[in-house]
Amino acid sequence: MDISNFDLKDLVQDDSISLNQKMDILHNVIEEAKRQKLYLYFRTTNGPSEDHIQATSLETGKPRDMIMMASNNYLGFTTNPEIKRRAIEIIEKWGIGMAGPCSLNGNTVLHQELEEKLARFKHCEAAMIFPSGYSANIGVITALLGKDDFFIGDELNHGSLIDGARYSRAERLVFKHSDCEDLERCLAKCEGKPGQKFVAVDGVYSMDGEIAPLRRIVDLCKKYNAMLLVDDAHGTGAVGANGRGSLEHCGVEGEVDIVMATFSKAFGCFGGFIAGSRQLITWLRFFGRSGMYTASVSPVIVGACLAGLEMMQNHPELIRKVQENARYVRSRLTQMGYKTSNHETAIIPVFLNDRMKTYSIVKEAYERGLFLSLIEYPAVPHGTERIRMTVMATHSREDLDKALDLLCELGKKYGAI
Ligand SMILES: Cc1ncc(COP(=O)(O)O)c(C=O)c1O
Repeated sequence: MDISNFDLKDLVQDDSISLNQKMDILHNVIEEAKRQKLYLYFRTTNGPSEDHIQATSLETGKPRDMIMMASNNYLGFTTNPEIKRRAIEIIEKWGIGMAGPCSLNGNTVLHQELEEKLARFKHCEAAMIFPSGYSANIGVITALLGKDDFFIGDELNHGSLIDGARYSRAERLVFKHSDCEDLERCLAKCEGKPGQKFVAVDGVYSMDGEIAPLRRIVDLCKKYNAMLLVDDAHGTGAVGANGRGSLEHCGVEGEVDIVMATFSKAFGCFGGFIAGSRQLITWLRFFGRSGMYTASVSPVIVGACLAGLEMMQNHPELIRKVQENARYVRSRLTQMGYKTSNHETAIIPVFLNDRMKTYSIVKEAYERGLFLSLIEYPAVPHGTERIRMTVMATHSREDLDKALDLLCELGKKYGAI
């Protein structure tokens, strides 16, 4: 079976076959990709997620050591000894979960303390924790918008913002990526119409590591009286002089209505939160259904995030280090002839715009001890396939050089540079 031309979009859109047939086809394609040792999703790792990991070779089926450059563990917090110590202390004292939602029995003093500290960190009045960043976005958008409202989003927004807009049933308008003129066109289109105008952008775009032009976006939202949500999943802990994220970097702290972030990146954990005005958070506690109709985040996670937040604030050298590592990798990739983005984030795309080249390089790098992410449709449009590299504060210069030397060799071998 030739799987190189398989197109997920064609399969989904094919009206001539039943759902069962589609599932059969997808299953067979995946099984074939596994047989051909080309299945680069759901790779198994064996141990903690750090700068060096053990992962299972597709060729031999055996674990081997690798340099990890595909994790969002930007500050190395997944295994930070102090954070682990605090999490263990909490588990001993509090157990593993609260077995109920925050609104009833699951709201501990730890949750309250973390929410207060997160709000201050994000220069907002209040915050609410959600079980994930995904559910935070779904919760806030569906709590605020209905079918008579307008959701205006960047075309490269994260799927959770897109899904939130879908579930809200608001009218959806999409503007070209980081194009403020196009955003203004959308805002002007809704002007004078009843209904809430709501703009949502990623602070840092997860697939290309670019920072949104927040200064201009904030000004436009003020001009058109639109509410603004910034998803700062990848900015928090990695961007800005103090790691407070894309809002700090762009000088707009305190000017954005809704700031969302997650614990699944720089915090090295899972869970998410929304920060905003006191009124917004009160509203969310009653209408943010994805936070309300679910159990509260475990105290272990809350404790780990409290420790992580302290660590972010007390150790700016970690933030400087991740930023320095990112600059180094970007500059060496550019010198080699790779095309990347030049924003100050820990996400470094290597644009190949060719599916087979991307597969070949990611696969061979993996077998030779470098774990990279393969990015293709539906995460990004067809023809914009890329490798996604991420750096951590804990990567040594030696790790980075090893990874970059290998990428240089493979880029030449597969005609990418
Ligand atoms: C920009 C962005 N927003 C939201 C999320 C969802 O966060 P979480 O992993 O906490 O559900 C992600 C994670 O993939 C993300 O990259």
